[in-house]
Amino acid sequence: MPAKAVCVLNGDVKGTVFFSQENDKAPVVVTGEVSGLTKGKHGFHVHEFGDNTNGCTSAGAHFNPGKQEHGAPTATVRHVGDLGNIEATADGGVTKVCIQDSQISLSGPNSIIGRTLVVHADPDDLGIGGHELSKTTGNAGARIACGVIGLAKS
Ligand code: CU
Ligand code: ZN
Repeated sequence: MPAKAVCVLNGDVKGTVFFSQENDKAPVVVTGEVSGLTKGKHGFHVHEFGDNTNGCTSAGAHFNPGKQEHGAPTATVRHVGDLGNIEATADGGVTKVCIQDSQISLSGPNSIIGRTLVVHADPDDLGIGGHELSKTTGNAGARIACGVIGLAKS
């Protein structure tokens, strides 16, 4: 059965992101828009908890049920929540999100429902930047917007 989810991002930038999955084995298609980003790449991850009581901080670390190191979305070693970067082509405009990912799911052990989507100030170095944070966060800097991922009407 197809499943759908949605996330409203709030913070220094705003956005709405949609998730859809044809069946529980299919990749998740992630679409939507984020407005107000500075030009360049911004880390884009699913973090573990759907808890925003202390802003985006309380969302915890990257969603990582497999206890792996941080990596690129295309890498075999990565956190489930590692969706890489979204890239703004100019300051302050609207950035389209268009991602397909085979590790996140809308059901089962890799389900992102009830977790938090986070947009970062800086680029995610995809684990290969050589920084002490590369293997845990991609050194993507501050959390500039976040929102809880919830089920949507299918
Ligand atoms: Cu993050
Ligand atoms: Zn990660």
